[in-house]
Amino acid sequence: MSNDDFPTDRPAVVTCGLPYANGDLHIGHLRGYIGADAFNRALQTLGQETAYVSGSDMHGTPVAVNAEQEGVDPEDFALEWHRQYEETFPQFNVDFDNYGHTHDETNTELTQDIVRTLDEEGYVYEKEIQVAYDPDADQYLPDRYVEGTCPYCGAKARGDECDEGCQRHLEPGEVKDPTSTITGNPAEYRERTHKFFRVSEFADYLTEFLDGLEGTSNARNQPRQWIEEGLQDWCLTRDMEWGIDYPGEDDEDIVLYVWVDAPVEYVASTKQYSERVGSDEYDWERVWKEDGDIVHVIGRDIIQHHTVFWPAMLEGADYNAPRGIAATGFITINGKGLSTSRNRAIWAEEYLDEGFHPDLLRYYLTTTGGLQQDVDFSWDSFQEKVNGELVGTVGNFWYRSLLFAYRNYEGTPEADVSEEVHERIEGAIGEVREAVNDYSLRGIGRAATRLAQFGNEYIQRNEPWKLTDEEPEEAAQVIRDCVQIAKAVGVLLEPIAPDKARQLWEQLGEEGTVADAHLEDALEAPPRSFDEPGELFAKIEDDRVAELNEKLEERVAAASDDESETESDDTDGDESADMAETDDLEPLLEDRIGFEEFQNVDIRVGRIEATEGIDGADDLARLEVDIGFETRQIVAGIKQLHDLDELPGEKCVLLANMEPAELFGVESNGMILAAGEQADLLTTRGDAEVGEKIR
Ligand code: 2FM
Ligand code: ZN
Repeated sequence: MSNDDFPTDRPAVVTCGLPYANGDLHIGHLRGYIGADAFNRALQTLGQETAYVSGSDMHGTPVAVNAEQEGVDPEDFALEWHRQYEETFPQFNVDFDNYGHTHDETNTELTQDIVRTLDEEGYVYEKEIQVAYDPDADQYLPDRYVEGTCPYCGAKARGDECDEGCQRHLEPGEVKDPTSTITGNPAEYRERTHKFFRVSEFADYLTEFLDGLEGTSNARNQPRQWIEEGLQDWCLTRDMEWGIDYPGEDDEDIVLYVWVDAPVEYVASTKQYSERVGSDEYDWERVWKEDGDIVHVIGRDIIQHHTVFWPAMLEGADYNAPRGIAATGFITINGKGLSTSRNRAIWAEEYLDEGFHPDLLRYYLTTTGGLQQDVDFSWDSFQEKVNGELVGTVGNFWYRSLLFAYRNYEGTPEADVSEEVHERIEGAIGEVREAVNDYSLRGIGRAATRLAQFGNEYIQRNEPWKLTDEEPEEAAQVIRDCVQIAKAVGVLLEPIAPDKARQLWEQLGEEGTVADAHLEDALEAPPRSFDEPGELFAKIEDDRVAELNEKLEERVAAASDDESETESDDTDGDESADMAETDDLEPLLEDRIGFEEFQNVDIRVGRIEATEGIDGADDLARLEVDIGFETRQIVAGIKQLHDLDELPGEKCVLLANMEPAELFGVESNGMILAAGEQADLLTTRGDAEVGEKIR
């Protein structure tokens, strides 16, 4: 059954993954929080009743281990970070309706309530299991206190997650060759009794849930595979003191696993918001227990928690299921993995200290790649996007049209908007509606910048400066149209660049706030008069970029020097791409080939025309690719790694004289070239024509 489109007549809630309260925020965090904020704002522009909530993730070993390293009580440690996050988010215009934390009373009570219900419904049982133990430290070793080898893919893994490999959740006792992260000694396994949640009983429910789930395709496809392989029950408790107690148990050494109480904060935070504004205005129980539209924006590394454990918990405790889950790809920096320990990251505070406007990063992060793709941040690509799209297209259009209007008409000329422009704006509004329903932030940004581009072409084509004396009415008409387009771009861009849209709104002398505007307001006439406008975007100069690159290189080098002396203190799961730098590179082939042999390899530039997943195949997609002479059907293993809807229109590089092959009953006539585990699709930098040969 497919859902009705947004806006619905039900309340919605948008959430983003909770940051562990254990360290500085960086661009990897911001991508999710900004993305979810933009999606929530976009829903509002459609007229959807919605709230955006989250909170800090205070418990578990990610917090306990770091607090211990600093010799601080975990509660004080986590609260301090929580306070910092509360201050940072507004600086990026991330506007939560409620931002709580998992250690507060609301979350503690709700978590215990949900677990109690699961227990009463017969979904929880006790089992003796082997738990890692460090005899020297005289301590059990849950989760991040132990490291070893992933039993599924062989990568180095933490006790509860294969963070550098297949991203799977690991159950206590699963990691092979366990080593204590406290002493570095091999760990022993000892028998302990723990509580388990019967996730395996939910396999059919989850299959159906995934069939109806909206969002990004990776969030649907990866869990299908896990379910097919057979679901294991989930250990709900851990041998540690910091966390929420299992309801009704007084064993002080056992608490709930952090991944039990963390997602409950989505509900607790919504409840806090509802209690603050009153349930007549926003009813959390309707959202979570009846028919609300729940949308989670998460990182790709936590898909399993959100598409398997969490919906099973919700179903078992009689709560509503999520409607959409959008899982973002990882962020790399200059082609290498973001690494907090190596200081190869763009820190939230650093970005602001450099004096950049938050909306520039918001625009970059939401419109580079789709939500699902990995984003490779570099100051160069940031400069290119800002200068090209925000300064060159949007800012240029806003400034030139408003300035012309101000100088010649002291505001909006008196005329009705032309039919052509009215229709063009209506078209852009339609594009945004469609993009929101496709969970495509890039589509929202693209609708706005394409409209600004149309505005630039429109003003250029009509040359109002040549008409003011001879054809004053025509000149006024053109400028009337341009002011309307400028306003419409502001309304459309607000979810992505809220402060810049606000500034434009003020320049137009509009009343109220653009954040409250709906898409249709893009067609409402702007005020008759306004003051002299200013430029809203400034070019980022080359020497600034050079300076930023240098700073980044220097601090990465300094951290590498430090790291050779100290242990890694990584605090997040974004390190996986680092592997490519060292252990993961395939060795170079010894055998060389001659130029003639290379000439037999027919590599061409293509353009992807259409894409679709192949039914029944987890990884395969069918692509139609224009190669200049003809359109080829090609099967590629990219179904889970790319947002297929985002690919049409993209240029690619393919091996054109590959032997045809049949995969899952579909003929593949060529091979798309891609690099690395994440199938980073090759393309060309300049304007090479489709069909051109690569030499
Ligand atoms: O992976 C993380 O950073 C977790 N703190 C995310 C929790 S999201 C949720 F479920 F609460
Ligand atoms: Zn693994």
